[in-house]
Amino acid sequence: MGKIITITNQKGGVGKTTTTMNLSAYLANEGKKILLVDLDPQGNSTSGLGVKRSDINRSLYDILINEINPREAIYKTRYANLDIIPSAVVLAAAEVELVSHLAREHKLKNALNSISQDYDYIFLDSPPSLGLLTVNGLTASDKILIPVQAEYFALEGLGQLLHTVQRIKTSLNPKIDLLGVLITMYDKRTILSRQVEQEIKRHFPGKVFETIVPRNVRLAEAPSFGKSIFGYDKLGKGANAYKNLAKEVHIKCQ
Ligand SMILES: Nc1ncnc2c1ncn2[C@@H]1O[C@H](COP(=O)(O)OP(=O)(O)OP(=O)(O)O)[C@@H](O)[C@H]1O
Ligand SMILES: [Mg+2]
Repeated sequence: MGKIITITNQKGGVGKTTTTMNLSAYLANEGKKILLVDLDPQGNSTSGLGVKRSDINRSLYDILINEINPREAIYKTRYANLDIIPSAVVLAAAEVELVSHLAREHKLKNALNSISQDYDYIFLDSPPSLGLLTVNGLTASDKILIPVQAEYFALEGLGQLLHTVQRIKTSLNPKIDLLGVLITMYDKRTILSRQVEQEIKRHFPGKVFETIVPRNVRLAEAPSFGKSIFGYDKLGKGANAYKNLAKEVHIKCQ
């Protein structure tokens, strides 16, 4: 049985994509069979893993709207054991088009049902919104991982996210559970980062990952080379953090 994990936070730029890509890349390199599903019309995970829009003719859009066999939209990446269902620009339209579909919240869940046995983990990279794409991700998932930036206002909006998760738990997906909250872009030199860390831990007792991802410019550079941090700067602090996070995730999912 594959474990399906949504990386989500409707706040933009908190490290969802960076986390999804590097978790996926690390575990794939460890020999786990991984599928990354790019739910974000921006397609940052898709391009960040070196998948070119010109090389794909099927995307998540075709799965959600045209109901093609999901296997037709699975592509290999340059990494062994790491497959992707890519995003496409038209995915932005799916958010609106889905509204009139029957069982619109269950489209992704139904699609992943038929392929999840092929993978050890399926990671979903969410867009920065709580719309139907994110709701499809939450409905299809066993677990949620919430990245939170170590910045002022870090907790803003999390109440709304947790409320949405609760609503989905009662109506669409009773098994969904919070895997953990991940502190990202942490700068240990600042008092602010430490204060935010304390505040997040107070709000989510026992649910904050021990691993804290530091602010690390290499993490921001890697995707522009179509690489994970392990292919770009594998001995650096960013790689070390995502290696430790991947181990924590794997242990928590056993
Ligand atoms: N730990 C880090 N240190 C430095 N830069 C980072 C770190 N994590 C992410 N970044 C950079 O910050 C920006 C936002 O990160 P990312 O794209 O992962 O966030 P996101 O939550 O997926 O954003 P969006 O909401 O737009 O999808 C990117 O330019 C990324 O490269
Ligand atoms: Mg993103």
